[in-house]
Amino acid sequence: MTDSGGLRVAVVGCGYWGSKHVRVLHSTDGVDDVVLVDGNTDRLNSLTRGYPGAARFPNLEEALPYVDAVFIATPPTTHVPLALRAIAAGKHVLIEKPLAPTTAGARQLIEAAASAAVVLMVGHTFEYNPAVWKLRDLVRSQALGELYYLDSARLNLGLYQSDVNVILDLAPHDVSIINHVLGESPVAVQAWASRHAHPRFEDVAYLRLFYDDHRLSANIHVSWLDPCKVRRVTAVGSEKMAVYNDLASDERIRILDKSVRRQVVENDDLTQPPMSYRYGDILSPYVASDEPLGIQDRHFVDCIRGGLRPITDGANGLAVVEVLEAAQLSLELDRPVLLNELGSPGIATGEVLNQPMSPTRPWLREHHPIGVDAGHRRVRVPAVGAMR
Ligand SMILES: NC(=O)c1ccc[n+]([C@@H]2O[C@H](COP(=O)([O-])OP(=O)(O)OC[C@H]3O[C@@H](n4cnc5c(N)ncnc54)[C@H](O)[C@@H]3O)[C@@H](O)[C@H]2O)c1
Repeated sequence: MTDSGGLRVAVVGCGYWGSKHVRVLHSTDGVDDVVLVDGNTDRLNSLTRGYPGAARFPNLEEALPYVDAVFIATPPTTHVPLALRAIAAGKHVLIEKPLAPTTAGARQLIEAAASAAVVLMVGHTFEYNPAVWKLRDLVRSQALGELYYLDSARLNLGLYQSDVNVILDLAPHDVSIINHVLGESPVAVQAWASRHAHPRFEDVAYLRLFYDDHRLSANIHVSWLDPCKVRRVTAVGSEKMAVYNDLASDERIRILDKSVRRQVVENDDLTQPPMSYRYGDILSPYVASDEPLGIQDRHFVDCIRGGLRPITDGANGLAVVEVLEAAQLSLELDRPVLLNELGSPGIATGEVLNQPMSPTRPWLREHHPIGVDAGHRRVRVPAVGAMR
């Protein structure tokens, strides 16, 4: 800390997103010094023009002696090694989404932060977004009736990443929003994805999330290869529907008083329509315009100063990585994957049973411990860590 008691922080990775942290941190209470770290000199040069007094370093190692906390905004595959180094030096760490590319990496971070007694937080920015809080309140208060499903679309002619596919790049946002709105994690995930313009990384993907309550599901569509920019989450209930459009300048949440009911038809009378439709008003509730990144970064600083556990702590980050890893595995296995299969010995050694699926709950398979040959066909799959 500085003499006045403020934190000294480093932003590692001063690219598209890291530069936004730098801007926000310069006006965050409790932060006295923002140090810039990037291996790319051009990036550092262009950013320091706006912050001429800021110290700058080409790597984390050289910055560590001058800071109390580190923001990691580098490509996802660098998150774990950089964060472990910062934690080993006793620094508090905020890591951009996804916390880690694998559940094994996320668990390593959680254990390291706990034994070093430092704050570990993941940058799930949407969980600090007042529009997402409004959607959560609508769903949890049952203002929409019984929730049927959530549907999330994050599409654009987007920036292809150099180290991960579109699932690891974009779906962390949708999974964290859905986990936050529902207050629970799915039990299983099914994914479908394809590679079009890139030879190695999927650029279009669909995920289906299944829950303990089998009437509820969530769908996610992410794409780097779409002509239209879309950032939309739809919640459909038995009484009303709500749409969160993150691109709208106002009316980011709209509540549509619309619903569909099954018509009671006597004696299977095929001359009567099977459903009845109700149309009503469209309301747009007030949503505060506070910048989510500002709320998030201030929360991290408050947690460090107050010895608090962040809302998006390591466990929250791991919950999202579990869904992403299950989705990746589902692509390989071409079937729904239970979250509790992850890290099981059968999967780790690359061998699982292709068990029959329940027709009504496709994620529920007749349960035999993985690795026990119960007369089912065995399939070879690569170990989770070798999938990319
Ligand atoms: N929370 C959000 O809404 C949000 C939005 C966009 C990106 N992100 C996340 O932010 C991270 C960065 O994404 P981006 O779009 O800014 O990428 P980017 O490519 O624009 O920037 C990454 C920067 O990291 C630097 N870098 C790479 N390895 C480094 C290392 N070992 N040491 C120092 N610098 C290094 C690169 O030179 C580059 O300047 C990713 O994890 C991404 O998922 C989060």
